Amino acid sequence: MTPAKSAARAQRVEELGRSPKEARPVEPAPEPPGAESSVTLAQVQDHEGVQTFIALADRFMGEIGYTEHGFRHAGLVSRIAFNVLDRLGYEERIRELGAIAGYLHDMGNFVSRSFHSQTGSAITYDLLKELGMSYKEIGQVLAAIGNHEEQFGHPVNAVGAALIVADKSDVHRSRVRVKDRATFDIHDRVNYAVERSFLRVDSEVRTLTLELTIDNELADVMDYFEIFLSRMVMCRRAAEYLDCRFKIDINGTKLL
Ligand SMILES: [Fe+2]
Ligand SMILES: [Fe+2]
Repeated sequence: MTPAKSAARAQRVEELGRSPKEARPVEPAPEPPGAESSVTLAQVQDHEGVQTFIALADRFMGEIGYTEHGFRHAGLVSRIAFNVLDRLGYEERIRELGAIAGYLHDMGNFVSRSFHSQTGSAITYDLLKELGMSYKEIGQVLAAIGNHEEQFGHPVNAVGAALIVADKSDVHRSRVRVKDRATFDIHDRVNYAVERSFLRVDSEVRTLTLELTIDNELADVMDYFEIFLSRMVMCRRAAEYLDCRFKIDINGTKLL
């Protein structure tokens, strides 16, 4: 580093109020202490706010022509996230947090589709606090919800990684609300073409395989990848976080 550059750096450090030592990167903070709580998925589901907001979110998504984002999607993602963590041997409390995050992840859509992961996290904080969940567990759930959108989300904990693969694997005919096929957009067409979707977890070889049966008359594999490529990239990262590989099998052919 030239003397001029070094002086400029020292100046910057000073401006930030940090000594050169403090300005150096350090290891991430250790796992914070914090109690486990006993808040269950059933308690979360029973909360009036949760029921109201998920219902409103689904109605709002219907108004703007989106696929189903209500209790069906919430329940399914919750179960898949739980199963992924269960099959991969995660402890009981982490599995329950996965189920809770899965159930709540799309609730923020009632505020707005844009940044629904962020608004959802903010709303979820109060609800979980009210139910008596510990700060540490709330932190895990909020980080998972806040990171589930492919535009800017990252798997930052096991709960969030399981939520990502569970959410992105819910592509299915039953999510399409538009009745007239002539007015289908590509999301409707691809979802409608999927007659069966299943996320297979193989804990022995550490793979998460999304198995899809697609009606090729309605959409082809290229259509699928056109809209789902970014989701698949996110699933691959999430699987890696869980020490697995992500695979896709469409109509019996392994594509990844
Ligand atoms: Fe979402
Ligand atoms: Fe979702």
